[in-house]
Formats: sequence, C-alpha cells, structure tokens
Amino acid sequence: MITIIGAGKVGSAAAFNILRYRIGDVVLIDVFENLAKGEALDMMQTAPAIEFDGKIKGTSDFSEMKSSDLVIVTAGEARKPGMTRIDLMNQNAKIIKSLVEEVVYYAPGCKLMVVTNPVDIMTYIAYKESGFERNRVFGMGNILDALRFRSYIALELNVSREDVRALVIGEHGDSMVPLVEYAAVSGIPIISLLNKSQIKKIVDLTISSGADVIKLKGSTTHAPAAVIAIMADAIIRGRNRVMGVSTYLQGEYGCSDIAIGMPVVLGKSGVERILELKLTPETKKRLQKSVSTIKEAIKN
Ligand code: NAI
Repeated sequence: MITIIGAGKVGSAAAFNILRYRIGDVVLIDVFENLAKGEALDMMQTAPAIEFDGKIKGTSDFSEMKSSDLVIVTAGEARKPGMTRIDLMNQNAKIIKSLVEEVVYYAPGCKLMVVTNPVDIMTYIAYKESGFERNRVFGMGNILDALRFRSYIALELNVSREDVRALVIGEHGDSMVPLVEYAAVSGIPIISLLNKSQIKKIVDLTISSGADVIKLKGSTTHAPAAVIAIMADAIIRGRNRVMGVSTYLQGEYGCSDIAIGMPVVLGKSGVERILELKLTPETKKRLQKSVSTIKEAIKN
C-alpha cells in the first residue's frame, strides 16, 4: 500500500498515476478531509474507464497509513508571489517535522519519499527527524529535472524523447547540474551531436523550466506526478531503476551531512546504492556550488 500525504494538485495527480499504472492501492491524506475524500471518489469513478482495480481511500486520519510500504509527502505550501525560498522553507519545515512524527508512529517500516519543496532541505529534515536508515528517506527532484533535460534535447535534435537518456544531479533548484557528458541519444553522446551553444541553450532551459511553468500556470503538476509514479513503481516492484534522487550523503562525492540529488539505484529498499561517477572539472565546480547553496539553506 502507498500513502500520499497532501491531496493537492501534485498529490492527487500522483495518486491517479499510481492507480492507472496499477502500482498499488493508495491512501490519500489531507488536512482538508473533504478534498481527500472527493479526490478519492472522483478517481474511483474513473476506474471502469481506465480499467484499474486498485483501491483508493481519502481521509484526514493519519492512522490509515498503517502498514504502508511507501509514504509520499506532497503536503505543504508552494511558493507564492512575494514569498522567498527561505519563507517557504521555514513554513514547510514545520509541516514536514510534524508529518514525519506521524509517519514514524504509524508506518515505522516504510520508505519515505519527500516531494515538498525545497525538496533537498525537506529530505534532510525528514531523514534527521525520522531516525530511519538513510536508504529509506529520499526526495523527488532531479528525476523531474532530467525529464525536462531529455525533452529539450529531443526537441533540439528532432528525435524521439524515448531515445534520449540523461541525468541531472545537485540541488533541485537553480544550481542543479545537468550531466551533459553522460547525456546520450540511443547511446550516442550528445556532445557529438550538438554544438556548445545548442548545449548551453538546453541546459539553461532545463534549469529555468520549472519556473517557466509556474510563471504561466502557477504550479507544476503533470510532470512531477508522472515521476512520483515512476519512483513508486521502481520501489514497489523492486525494479532497480537508475535515476537522480535526493539522498543523504556520508562521504560520497566528498560530501557529508547533506541531502542532495545524486545518481542512485532505486529499488525495494529505497536507495539501494549511490553511483559515484567520474565528473569533469566543470561539472565538479557546478556541483560544489550546488552543495554550498544547500548547506547555506540548512544553516538558515
Ligand atoms: P497544493 O497546495 O495544491 O497541495 C498541498 C496540499 O497539502 C494541500 O491540499 C494542503 O491542504 C495539504 N497540507 C498542508 N499541510 C498539511 C498537513 N500538515 N497534513 C496534510 N496535508 C497538508 O500544492 P501542490 O502544487 O500539490 O504542491 C505541493 C508541494 O510539492 C509544494 O511544496 C510544492 O512546492 C512541491 N512540489 C515539489 C516538486 C518537486 O519536484 N520536488 C514539484 C512540484 C511541487
């Protein structure tokens, strides 16, 4: 069973993807009970059309998450006009702390996926507050950035998005690090297909892409919901997928006491292992900047 805390735009869309791809039954929890119940009812009524049998329950009762294999936290505020990242961080940190207490009490054996922004900081807090082993607490961020990176590479080359594979590491934010040296189209490195200015354009678009959507429609929903389902699938079905996930570091890449996006193998136990890649000096420099940004935010 999978619990999603936060039945807002991202949480409810993620619940629907998890159901339609038959990944598991879903409990959807929100402080606004009617919202959670209404979303659940709406999805249940969609089942005959999409043909899924998974159960969905909407509630405000945290005890309903009991025996969940995976708990996904999408509860919290999104950045509003005039709100700084620090304002958002302080507000959501309080929410995450209180929710982690509920998770530890009702689902002590679960894997805990954090989505609430700023996700690297919230993952750090969730790890520290939960006392769980580090493999069981991780954040969704870089896989979404990679989806965007892949989309823009495909667009520039006019090739199928399916054939483009790429990773993004670092902060899920402006200092993210698209791994240009490892991006490829059906195994062909993009550095042999695109020139420097094309690559720069793609990297810049990748970094601004979340904000570009927010500027137009206020929040991002479909892409985050899709990647939450991909991560849930990797964990529930033990698929050992390789993707960028925010994870707590203990010396990897020369970093400690920080949660930051890294390439990992995601499977039954959560983060099965962190992959340590050889990075170019340019990428190392960008990653260092990302680390400093997150460390500074944690200090705040
Ligand atoms: P939303 O405002 O539509 O939904 C948030 C929901 O959380 C609301 O329904 C609210 O009632 C609920 N909530 C707040 N406190 C709660 C609590 N203590 N217990 C239970 N429910 C509670 O927001 P949206 O668009 O769904 O975004 C949710 C979060 O996800 C935001 O922090 C946003 O920045 C983040 N996000 C992260 C992404 C990522 O890549 N990591 C991508 C997109 C959004």
